[in-house]
Amino acid sequence: MKKFSIVIAGGGSTFTPGIVLMLLDNLDQLPIRKLKFYDNDQQRQDLVAGACEVIVREKAPDIEFIATTDPEEAFTDVDFVMAHIRVGKYAMRELDEKIPLKHGVVGQETCGPGGIAYGMRSIGGVLELIDYMEKYSPDAWMLNYSNPAAIVAEATRRLRAESKVLNICDMPIGIEDLMSKIVGLSSRKEMVARYYGLNHFGWWTDIRDKDGNDLMPKLKEHVSKFGYVPNAGNNDQHGDASWSDTFAKARDVYAVDPTTLPNTYLQYYFYPDYIVDHSNPNYTRANQVIEGREKFVFGECKKIIEQQSTEGNALHIDDHASYIVDLARAIAYNTHERMLLIVENNGAIENFDSTAMVEIPCIVGSNGPEPLSIGKIPQFQKGLMEQQVSVEKLVVEAWEQKSYQKLWQALTLSKTVPSAKVAKEILDDLIEANKDYWPALDQEEALATV
Ligand code: NAD
Ligand code: G6P
Ligand code: MN
Repeated sequence: MKKFSIVIAGGGSTFTPGIVLMLLDNLDQLPIRKLKFYDNDQQRQDLVAGACEVIVREKAPDIEFIATTDPEEAFTDVDFVMAHIRVGKYAMRELDEKIPLKHGVVGQETCGPGGIAYGMRSIGGVLELIDYMEKYSPDAWMLNYSNPAAIVAEATRRLRAESKVLNICDMPIGIEDLMSKIVGLSSRKEMVARYYGLNHFGWWTDIRDKDGNDLMPKLKEHVSKFGYVPNAGNNDQHGDASWSDTFAKARDVYAVDPTTLPNTYLQYYFYPDYIVDHSNPNYTRANQVIEGREKFVFGECKKIIEQQSTEGNALHIDDHASYIVDLARAIAYNTHERMLLIVENNGAIENFDSTAMVEIPCIVGSNGPEPLSIGKIPQFQKGLMEQQVSVEKLVVEAWEQKSYQKLWQALTLSKTVPSAKVAKEILDDLIEANKDYWPALDQEEALATV
C-alpha cells in the first residue's frame, strides 16, 4: 500500500496538533511515511513541532518528522500540502476586528472590512505556497483552509487557474454536527445535505437521513426557537460563549428566509447593527482566541515538550481535522465522497455568475471535485450573493492591479458598510495598519476623482 508524504503549511497554527492527531488516528485509512511542518515563523512553529515530534514518536515512530522554514525542504517530495496560514497572525486579526469597529462597522475575521483586509494579506501568502508546491512537488494537491477562503479561492481561480488547490471551510460541517445533535443522530455523516452559496455566505435547502427521510421540518422547528444551540450542549472548538451567541442568533437569521437554513456567518450581513452593539471595541474575538485556544494549545505543547511525553495532555481531534483528512483520502483513494468545497460555479448554480467561486456539494475523487448541479436560486439569495461575490472579486482585482479605487469600491459594496465615506475612512486606517503586508496601492487615480 502506498504511503503518503504530507506537509502542513502554517505548522505553528493552533489547529496543527488537532490535524496531526487526526492523521495519526487514521493511519489505516491514510498511511503516512513522512510528515513535515512549514512556517515562516520558526519560534512559533518550534513549539508546536516540539510537541508533535513527541506525539509522532509515541504513536507512529516509523513516520519521518521534519519541521522547517526552508521551502525547498518543506515542499520537496510531498503528496499533499495541508495549508492553514494566517498572514499577520493574531496581531493583525485584532486590528482587522478593531479598526472597523472604531468606525461603527462590523469587525470580523472574514466578513466586511476585516475580511477584506485579511484577504489583501492572505492572497500573496497562499499563492507563494502554491508556487513552492508546483516547483518542488508538481503532482501534489494543496488542501487549503487559509482564510478568508472566499477571497483566497477567487485569487487561486484568477491567478493560478491550473493549480491543484482545493479551498475548504469547516463552518458548514460544524453546523451540520449541531444539526445531527438536534435531530438525535450520532454524527453529521448520518445526513445528506444540499447546500449552496459563497464561503461563509450560504444556505441549506435540504437535509435528509440516509434512508431519505426529510429532516428539515424538525430542524426548522428547533432553529426557529433556539437557533443551532442543541439541547444537549456543545463543547468543541465552537463551544466558546461567543460561538454560543452566534448559534443562538441563527434563529433571527433563519427568520429572514424560513424556506432554507442559514450559515451562521450571515448574521454579519443581516444584523450588522446588532453585531456592532454587541461587540466590545477593546476586546474582540482575537483577544478571546489569544487567551483561549492559543493559550490552551501552546500550554499543552509546552507540557509535552517538558515531559517528553503526552501523558495527561488534553489536545484533541475535532471535525475541523477530520474534514481535511477525509478530503485527502477522497483524492488518494478515489472514494467519491460527497463534500462541500469552494469551486468555480461553471453553471452549477444556473442563474448565477459562472466565474464565481461558490460553496456547493461535490463528488471528490482522484481527479478532484465534480460539482453537483444546484439549479436556479431565488431572487433574495441571488441578490445577496451577487453583491458579496462582487466584493470578493474587486478585492482580488485591487490586489492584482494595486488599485486603491477598486479596494474602496469593494468596501463600499460590502453590505456591512453604510457609505462610501465610511468605507474610505476605514480603508485609510487599514492601509496604514497593513503597510508591511499589502501591496502599495496606487492612490493617484482615486485622489483625482474625489
Ligand atoms: P495561527 O496564527 O495560530 O497559525 C497560522 C500560522 O501561519 C502561524 O504559525 C504563522 O506564523 C503562519 N504563517 C503566517 N504567514 C505565513 C506564510 N506566509 N508562510 C508560512 N506560514 C505563515 O492561526 P489559526 O487560528 O490556527 O488559524 C490558521 C488559519 O486557518 C487561519 O487562516 C484561519 O483563518 C484558518 N481557519 C480556517 C478555517 C476554515 O473554515 N477555512 C477554519 C479554522 C481556521
Ligand atoms: C469557523 C470558520 C473559520 C474561522 C473560524 C474562526 O470555523 O469556518 O473559517 O476561521 O470559525 O474561529 P475562531 O475560534 O478563530 O474565532
Ligand atoms: Mn470557514
